[in-house]
Amino acid sequence: MLGTHPDRISKTTNPPRQKPNIEDYDLARADFSWQTANSKLFGDVADVCSSKYNITYNCVDRHAEDSRRDKTALLYAAEDGSTERFTYADLKKQTNKFANVLSGLGVNKNDRVFIFMPAIPERYIAFLGILKLGAVVGTMFAAFQEEALLDRLSDSEASVVVTNTELLPRIQNIQSKLPCLQKIIVVQRGSTELPVASNVVAYEAAMQDASDSFQTVAVKPEDFAYMLYTSGTTGKPKGVIHSHSDIVQAMATTSAVLDIQENDIYWCTADIGWVTGVVYGVLGIWGLGGTSVLYEGRFSPENWYRVLQDHKVTVWYSAPTAIRMLMGSGVDTASYDFSHLRHLCSVGEPSNPEAIWWGLEVFGLPFHDTWWQTELGGICISNLPALDIKPGSMGKPLPGIEAAILDPAGNVLAPGQQGSLALRASTVQSLMKTIWHNQGKYDSYFIGDWYISGDSAYCDADGYFWFVGRNDDVINTAGERIGPFEVESALVEHPNVVEAAVIGKPDAVRGEIIKAFVVLKDGVKTSDELKKELQQFVKSHLSGHSYPREIDFIDHLPKTRSGKIMRRVLKAKELGLPTGDTSTLENY
Ligand code: PRX
Repeated sequence: MLGTHPDRISKTTNPPRQKPNIEDYDLARADFSWQTANSKLFGDVADVCSSKYNITYNCVDRHAEDSRRDKTALLYAAEDGSTERFTYADLKKQTNKFANVLSGLGVNKNDRVFIFMPAIPERYIAFLGILKLGAVVGTMFAAFQEEALLDRLSDSEASVVVTNTELLPRIQNIQSKLPCLQKIIVVQRGSTELPVASNVVAYEAAMQDASDSFQTVAVKPEDFAYMLYTSGTTGKPKGVIHSHSDIVQAMATTSAVLDIQENDIYWCTADIGWVTGVVYGVLGIWGLGGTSVLYEGRFSPENWYRVLQDHKVTVWYSAPTAIRMLMGSGVDTASYDFSHLRHLCSVGEPSNPEAIWWGLEVFGLPFHDTWWQTELGGICISNLPALDIKPGSMGKPLPGIEAAILDPAGNVLAPGQQGSLALRASTVQSLMKTIWHNQGKYDSYFIGDWYISGDSAYCDADGYFWFVGRNDDVINTAGERIGPFEVESALVEHPNVVEAAVIGKPDAVRGEIIKAFVVLKDGVKTSDELKKELQQFVKSHLSGHSYPREIDFIDHLPKTRSGKIMRRVLKAKELGLPTGDTSTLENY
């Protein structure tokens, strides 16, 4: 028993509202083969280039050419309450046009084109148009500020950025430091002020002039498709590269886990700057020919409940922080009609049992927790519609996937023993292809055929996996993965700061918040104003969501004799835990 709740949600007493795509987990696991999944979509995969392997062919063209032609692919819900619908035929035309626009600008296969836009339909048209041309698409959060943008655009040597009028100045302020950046395509959406500059291209005008026919570029399944920058403990964010063949795992898991069926209305709340927004906001749902809701507005319980109700959402994929915020808001849910909802999932951070029980109370449905990572390109461990839920567990490895708990030497541990969560690399079709310009980093993820996730976990006697924590200093705040080094680097750029260390501090709503320990220059006075100034400094230089919500001023940081900051010591002190062996520390 967990508190007053039982430790299991039985699917016999809480059956799925609709016959699920996978009715028997064990049978599905026994039957699954990646070879069959590939040939179902691609036919007999030969070592040739073909447009049928292109993600955009699979997500758009093939639906536009069959009975889903007039089906709504994208239902855009703007903040002002208005809606726009795009059918698969519309998406085909628009993505053809955008691919022609890029081609006219000289973009070629394998060139990097980045998207830096808020949640508007054009970012999906751009995303799929870039892939259609065989170029590599990168995505970035609209909250990113100049340092975060510069790191990503310079490392990837992006030649084009697609943005909107509001965000354009952030790119223009750094363009002199980006020698590879040729063009900035700007979506205006009604706004008129577009600065005249030789490298600025007006999206609407270019789209109007472009032809709506385009031959989708032929690719091999392993050709690079999209890239996302993600954080580790050290150094700048790394460019994780995924390929066109990821579509197979995206579709298999969208079917198995999200249980998408022909008439579903699906809402994935994740931003496209996050891997969930790419794989489950684009690849999986459109690969299966589904209908996806895109909500433009900001988070508020009332807004979100209205989206669920007004658009008759049936399947909802969200994140634990958002669920905890809804839960804690006290907004009366009784006045909303959620009767069309039939399946709920969450991702990104530990899903606490209370939130799962709350879902059952308010929506009559439990949230199904799912686990994966940017590097993995698709869900690997999950709860499923027809599988009992043990609230707090991430569920079981999906059909096709082999997961295990390893000791530091790479030996598989027995049930109940805590260790390193690993996946048999050859069983994860959508595993990253490489780390951009950093093969050494890529290689460091593996022990033999095991991919090491960096999470620690255990597996119970029934085969359910339980998340314990990270093995490194990576922070997970509101589901977002933040590298402490990036935040520390931003802080030390402030003229009053000598050095800084950043940790994740447990938080009831956000999972963790960023807490910074800052050493000030001699003579600088500590004050609450200075704390606010430092917070604002990080917000405006790095990103609106990666700033330290708490700051402590300290005299010096705990470091090893070789100068490495020991964040674990700061964290232990913060949490009132033993600091462990500090004999190798300088000055502490
Ligand atoms: O620590 C795990 C946590 O998020 C990390 C991956 O972050 P990212 O690459 O941004 O991808 C997030 C979306 C797939 C993991 O190493 N994480 C993700 N899902 C869960 C989770 N922690 C606990 N439970 C989960 N369900």
